[in-house]
Formats: sequence, structure tokens, C-alpha cells
Amino acid sequence: MDELDKRTTPASGLPIAFHGTVIHSKALDDLEILENCFLLVAKDGRIQAIQADVEPDQINSLVSANGYAPDVFPVKQLKRGQFLCPGLVDTHNHAPQYAQRGMGRGIDLLEWLNKVTFAHEAKFEDPEYAKKMYTACVTGFLQQGITTASYYGSHHGQATRILADVCFEKGQRALVGKCNMNRNAPDWYRDASVSDSLRETRDFIHHVQQLDPDRILVKPILTPRFAISCEPELLEGIGAIAREHPDLPIQTHFNEASQEIEFTKQLFPEFKTEADLYERYGLLNDRSILAHCIFLQEDEMTRIQELGCGVAHCPISNTTMQDFMVAPVREYLRRGIKVGLGTDSGGGYSSSILDAMKHAFIVSVARQTATKGKDPALSLCEGFFLATLGGAQVCGLDDRIGNFVVGKEFDALEVHCIDLDRPGVMSPVEEEDSTQVIFEKFLMTGDDRNIVRVYVAGRSVKP
Ligand code: GUN
Ligand code: FE
Repeated sequence: MDELDKRTTPASGLPIAFHGTVIHSKALDDLEILENCFLLVAKDGRIQAIQADVEPDQINSLVSANGYAPDVFPVKQLKRGQFLCPGLVDTHNHAPQYAQRGMGRGIDLLEWLNKVTFAHEAKFEDPEYAKKMYTACVTGFLQQGITTASYYGSHHGQATRILADVCFEKGQRALVGKCNMNRNAPDWYRDASVSDSLRETRDFIHHVQQLDPDRILVKPILTPRFAISCEPELLEGIGAIAREHPDLPIQTHFNEASQEIEFTKQLFPEFKTEADLYERYGLLNDRSILAHCIFLQEDEMTRIQELGCGVAHCPISNTTMQDFMVAPVREYLRRGIKVGLGTDSGGGYSSSILDAMKHAFIVSVARQTATKGKDPALSLCEGFFLATLGGAQVCGLDDRIGNFVVGKEFDALEVHCIDLDRPGVMSPVEEEDSTQVIFEKFLMTGDDRNIVRVYVAGRSVKP
């Protein structure tokens, strides 16, 4: 560990500072590249100062203006090809599917759940297995720069409490939910009854409140898997908990696949659409995270926009199960609906948000072609927004994270691109490359090897 690392552990409680390139999104179409930027993080993990175009000989006076002793206070110099950007946000992740990623391609969603997924998730009945696998999962996500994740746990209360504990210990910001599911799953992998499912959910909320009373890192999220897995009384009960705890976020799968929509209609013939259904049970509001959103009808789009729901766009799983499905993300953005990116864990094959960003870009090109240009493709900068500030908005955390603003918490990646002296997978930086070009090379060809440090609330968390 070098001096700076020692200083960034939470126990040290010391401030940190950088001088170099800083890149973040101010809005969907507003990427800001700050050169020669001085960025200071106070000991409480919040950004205290950010100022671009600072010459090296001005640093000391900025340090003292912010109340620290110049020369003694370490300021990390970022070289050319190195930069800071906000941490990545995964708005839809099934933690218990971490080890099944890559399996079960080419089959439809319901078959994949029954043939592959439930058996994997059932293993989390064993708390030792849960501890081992969740430690690997959270460590793996931090390694590749996911500073915030919205997790579905398994249906087990104990394993999901372990997941929340691991996030807290490892320093990952997380929404964590015990998955509610009491039907259309094998009897060895479902909640025994509505009352059991609701009791476990309440116990879980209580556990997280004890673990992190100020919600510094971990927050519970209500997690009805989807309507197919929940009897009406269970949805009713979760809606009641949502009303009792008006600050709790809610996540579910929404209009993901045609077989799923058909089956939902058979189970709930009284509702015209999934939006009607989930709204009726009190599960749609400005804290709802709706995963996938492939086949929304006009009135559903209108309604989720009015209610302020967020969309977790998961292009990897949408295109690598049986069908190739593309969510109309441009349409959502045009309507002002919040959109972030999700890996979907086992539903996709990759748990990298950089991969999800690339896929979002690729499927948006497919959509542009299919709509004859009506829905223009996402730019790389827009993809980066979805992976950072957009994701923070979807998770209801954009007042705390997502970009670099004084007062926000410092969730950040320190990226080191490569050059011809140290060749690797990433497209090497050439002398003539602008910062914008270097950034695009990282987005399209970089990976966790280029993410050398990861910070959550100012704490260095990359293993
Ligand atoms: N719908 C219900 N459960 C799941 C799941 O685990 N993954 C995906 N992608 N969709 C689901
Ligand atoms: Fe999912």
C-alpha cells in the first residue's frame, strides 16, 4: 500500500486530493471534461472543492484556501492517459446468479428460470455458501468499478441479510432486497406462504436498519420478483409495506418478454397492462426501478413517466436469451423517463457495466436502423450518463452521487489507460489523441484492468 491508500481507509478519516483530468456527466447530453482539475475530498468522503485549469504552482494556495497545510498535504498527480470519473451504477443485479452467468443461453425467460436459475438461487439456503459467494460477488463488482448496485437477493431472508452485511463491510453502496416469490417456482425454492414472505421482508428491513441506521451505504428495497411469482395477497402485502415505509425503493421485472406478458395476463385477467397491475398494488412510484421495459404500451409509458418510475435497461440479457429484444430507450429519454443500466447478472452473461454500456450502444444502433432513424442511437457520452448519473437517478441517489459536485459523496474510479510501452487489451493511447478520444477508447475497449482504484464515499475499496 502506498501512502495515499493508507490515507483513504475510513479509519484514517483523512482528506484526499487529485490534480489532473476529471470527466463526468452534468446531464444526458452534457459530458464535462475538466483538464488540470484540482479535486479535493474532505474527510467525511464528500467533495469539498473542484476547480479546472489549475496550474501546478497554484495547487498549494488552493490547498491552504481549503484549510489544509500546503506541502504536507498529498495531492495525487494524474498523468496523461489517467483520469477520474464517477463510479458505475448497476440498477439491476441478481446477486445469487453471480456464478451462473453464461449458462442457459438460447432458451426463453420462463424456461431459463425453471431449468437453470431457481436451482442456483436455491443454494443460498446455506449461509456458508451465501457468505462465500456474496463475498466473491461484491468483491468482483467493486473490482470493476460498480460503486452502487441494486441487488435482488434470493428468497432466503438469512442469505439476503448476509448480502447486506457483505456490501456494508466491503464498502459498496447498495440497495438490497429479499426476493418475494410464493408461486410458479418449485416448492424447494419459494416462500412457504404469503405471511412467511412478508415476515421475512419486515425482518430484513429491520436488519438493514440496524446495520446501517443512517443509510450511509446500504438500504433495503422491496423486491417482488414479478407478478408471476407473487399471489395477489403477496403483492397486496408488499404494497402495504411500501405505504408504511414511504422512503423505501421498490424493484421488479416489467414487460420483459412476450411469454412473461402472456402468462401475467392469464394470471391477472382483470388488468389491461402490467402498469395497471403494479400500480393497483401500490408498487409504482418515483422510487420504483422497473427492469427491462421492452414492450410498453403507449399508456404505460405515459403512466410510468407521470409516476416518476425509473427504467433499468439491461441490454445484455435482452439480447442473449432466446430472443433479440431492444428496449425503446430513446423514446423513454425523450419522454423524460429516468433510465439507468443493469447487468441483470445471470440473465445476461456479463456483470460489467462497461459491457452493458457497450451493448446499450449497439442495441441502440439496431433500434435506429429498425425505426429508420426515428430513434437515433445513443452516443457513447449518453451511454456513460446512463451508467453513472442516470443510474443514480433511477436508484434515487442522484442528490448524493453520480457526478462530481461539491457536497456530493466521492464515488469514483481512477482510470489508467495504456500506451504502447504497456500493451494490453485496451486500444493504446497515441500522442495525438485528445482527452475525448482517450475516454472513448476506454469506454469501448477498456476493462477492470484499467480501473486502478475505486472509491466509495472517499474510501478506497478496490480489492
Ligand atoms: N423475471 C423474473 N425473474 C427473473 C430473473 O431472475 N431474471 C430476469 N432477467 N428476469 C426475471
Ligand atoms: Fe432480472
